[in-house]
Amino acid sequence: MADEKKMTGEVYHPAPEVVANAHITDYDKVNDQATKDLAGFWGKIASENFEWYQPWEKVLDDSNAPFYKWFVGAKTNIVHNALDRHVRSANRNKAALIFEGEQGDRRTYTYQQLNHEVCKFASVLRSMGVGKGDRVTIYMGRVPELMIAMLACAKVGAMHSVVYGGFSTEALLDRIEDSKSKILITCDGAWLRGNIIELKKIANDAVDRAGTIQSVICVKRTGQDVEMVPGRDYWYHDLMTLPVVDPNAPTEVMDAEDPLFILYTSGTTGKPKAILHTHGGYMVWTATTLKWVFDLKREDVWWCAADPGWITGHSYIVYAPLVLGITSFMYEGAPTHPYPDRWWSLVARYGISVLYTAPTAIRGLMRFGESWPNKHDLSSLRLLGSVGEPINPEAWKWYYRVIGKEKCPIMDTWWQTETGGFMITPLPCVPLKPGSATRAFPGVVVDVVDEEGEPVGVNEEGYLVIKTPWPGMLRTIFGDPDRFVQQYWSRYEEQGWYLPGDSARKDEDGYIWVIGRIDDVIKVSGYRLGTAEIESALVSHPAVAEAAVIGLPDEVKGNIIKAFCILRQGYEGSSKLEQELRDHVGKEMGPIAKPASVAIVDSLPKTRSGKIMRRVLKAQEMGQDVGDLSTLAD
Ligand code: WT7
Repeated sequence: MADEKKMTGEVYHPAPEVVANAHITDYDKVNDQATKDLAGFWGKIASENFEWYQPWEKVLDDSNAPFYKWFVGAKTNIVHNALDRHVRSANRNKAALIFEGEQGDRRTYTYQQLNHEVCKFASVLRSMGVGKGDRVTIYMGRVPELMIAMLACAKVGAMHSVVYGGFSTEALLDRIEDSKSKILITCDGAWLRGNIIELKKIANDAVDRAGTIQSVICVKRTGQDVEMVPGRDYWYHDLMTLPVVDPNAPTEVMDAEDPLFILYTSGTTGKPKAILHTHGGYMVWTATTLKWVFDLKREDVWWCAADPGWITGHSYIVYAPLVLGITSFMYEGAPTHPYPDRWWSLVARYGISVLYTAPTAIRGLMRFGESWPNKHDLSSLRLLGSVGEPINPEAWKWYYRVIGKEKCPIMDTWWQTETGGFMITPLPCVPLKPGSATRAFPGVVVDVVDEEGEPVGVNEEGYLVIKTPWPGMLRTIFGDPDRFVQQYWSRYEEQGWYLPGDSARKDEDGYIWVIGRIDDVIKVSGYRLGTAEIESALVSHPAVAEAAVIGLPDEVKGNIIKAFCILRQGYEGSSKLEQELRDHVGKEMGPIAKPASVAIVDSLPKTRSGKIMRRVLKAQEMGQDVGDLSTLAD
């Protein structure tokens, strides 16, 4: 542990009782062990905490880097560790998932019950010919069936590709086509802010245009009339009563390195990338990081308030909590429905002990004032977490004081879809600085460097790099291994470092302060959106010839989107058209991608090679110096 007196800046030291009872009480000691013998460290953790059908020959194979392999030759299935082993133990009747719908409906699944549903649905999938290596797209709201569908895919060895329910037709279509999914699992609708999002309708539009989907499975959630195509579409509840359904369906034996899922995320250019994770390494990484960082114990009630449609939900709603055998809580709807104290009432009702959410949600709830949380008994909370973007010290302190009552440490976890789990994060024994994700997880070596790879000075901005492999690392971009190498491993090819695409600085105490993205990725409410995808949506409107989008700072959302459009001949700018373009993006991409404003322009700043210089647009908007314009065409 760092020496109390020597640290700079505002420091919050953990209470002695928090440290004494934690899984990890001495960060430096564990970090030393891990860095000295990375393979030995992870080999020991993997054999002591997980079940394998067959052990590995080698923990880490780096002979074909950056295509690293972990637990080479081992056989397992993450579902064996998440469900099968628990239903054989005393955990059988423990709550695995407690769910509350936005309308107030409640459900609890024990490990036994959840396993039963997963087995049944796995046999439905098998009866439709789904097996090892197949891709299944899942497009649903935040309901237990989403978790059941994901686990059932993993159980039969198929890769799920979950598309966030807030995305719309174009985004769903791209992801179905890129993954060549044969099956789509969806809902009739989803509840949000008292309204119904018509998921089946959007799914129908996408499936009609996508060539690959043979069957659609639809979960009844909202109950409104939806169009079901005979011979293609089936109700989930009908399939679950068929004679093929086997409540004891066997779990497929998988290689540790076999794909578990793909998840699309936005990158610098072009279409979204399908990030691929595996059964073995991802399981070890997500469960161990969750256990150590949030110090989870048997009696905890864990609430990760993200959406299962994003990596946060994959790792820390679905997989890691089940592998650890703990109780998770899931809430379907909006934090402010029907009143701004919905979340706080849930913490009190279910006795939530660890809450993990995003800065944008904290800032959004902060606006309503302290009286809403103060109406509820939040004394069950013992740890808090944050993820998605840098947390402003203001929001950190509000979270700490008003929600955590100055007794809950805040784990500000930096990681990415690509990393599978936490990478830079405090552990409960690490002193905290509001706004810093502190230090790397044991065994992870990070640094802040310049273009050449030389470390930059203390507190100077540079590129964040990761210098060591870790079990939860992405294995490739599905269908595009060249892009995987190019995107993440080419900048520091000689050194063999991973480039996350963030800028950061390191302070006097070695604490990392993440500043933001260095590429054309915009974080809106913590969601990662690529400029390219939004621009394509704009250009798909008949009035738009060319478009550029930028992110501008926003108090609650972190960033909002501003679009610049050049119109085609015959079209004229008007506020009506601007509104129409905003709605068009909302309809094509989804409400999160909707620009806050649209400007009609005659030209866009470009390099001589024709690349749009978004930084020039941004500097202009913010009244800043536009910087070096030597590459500008005119
Ligand atoms: C990007 C990854 C990891 C789950 C959610 C986001 C930013 C994430 C933090 C944090 C500062 C953060 C980075 C990163 N980010 N967490 N604690 N502090 N920035 O996953 O959608 O893949 O986005 O989110 O810019 O590169 P993602």
